[in-house]
Amino acid sequence: MQIFTTISEMRQVRTDGLIPTMGALHEGHLSLVRAARAACETVTVSIFVNPTQFSAGEDLAKYPRTFEADCELLRAEGVDFVFAPSASEIYPAGAAGTLVEVPGIGQRLDGASRPGHFRGVATVVAKLFNIVQPRLAYFGQKDAAQVAVLRAMVRDLNLPAELRVCPTVRDTDGLALSSRNRFLNAAERRAAAAIPRALERARALVETGTCASETVRQAMLWELVALKVDYAQVVHPETLEPVNNVCPRALIAIAAWAGETRLIDNLLIEKPR
Ligand code: PAF
Repeated sequence: MQIFTTISEMRQVRTDGLIPTMGALHEGHLSLVRAARAACETVTVSIFVNPTQFSAGEDLAKYPRTFEADCELLRAEGVDFVFAPSASEIYPAGAAGTLVEVPGIGQRLDGASRPGHFRGVATVVAKLFNIVQPRLAYFGQKDAAQVAVLRAMVRDLNLPAELRVCPTVRDTDGLALSSRNRFLNAAERRAAAAIPRALERARALVETGTCASETVRQAMLWELVALKVDYAQVVHPETLEPVNNVCPRALIAIAAWAGETRLIDNLLIEKPR
């Protein structure tokens, strides 16, 4: 496995599949690596804690950085290249500061709670696509809003990469794997398990014929009483606009705080008509 820190080194090799990450890798990331490994000749994983997707007061400084352990995991998965640039490599001093904005979609869900977040994500992913030039790029369904934003960006800018979205990987208590789960103490961890329970409650309601988004939302909010809820919404999976009906297709998305840690999760409903 070769590790590159500069854009010029990265440009010297050909990548088939790219997994953009911010490091602190877990089984969720590794599931993306395995999907890429199965479909691609050469696999690159980028590790870059992207400052432009954090706003002032967010957890950029304390975001977990576990580079050595990450590389060990990636080596064991047979990854070909790791791209781990510095912040100044990606955002050099004196640059004009061109940004990629996905209006509308980029301001909904996490984009509403974290203004500028998706502008930072779209900008860095566009840059990574231009540097690495992958045929396929892998993302997790856990970040459903991010997926919607990136799909729109790829379509609008005619970027040649194709997005592949892999299922959320969960722990035994149902909690979606996230690099931020390591910040939870035991009590917060128990409380956080309400998030997947709320989504399961939503799924059960939909499966037994409930279609009204508001009924589903209220049932989820009951489950989430012990947490500070940022949003619990039923939206269109592509536009992220609220929808009144879960059927036949909707994204049910939750963001909630367990202590100081903001967690997100979602459930995609696709019911045959
Ligand atoms: O999902 C993430 O870890 C990040 O948002 C991404 C896509 C690597 C961009 O920094």
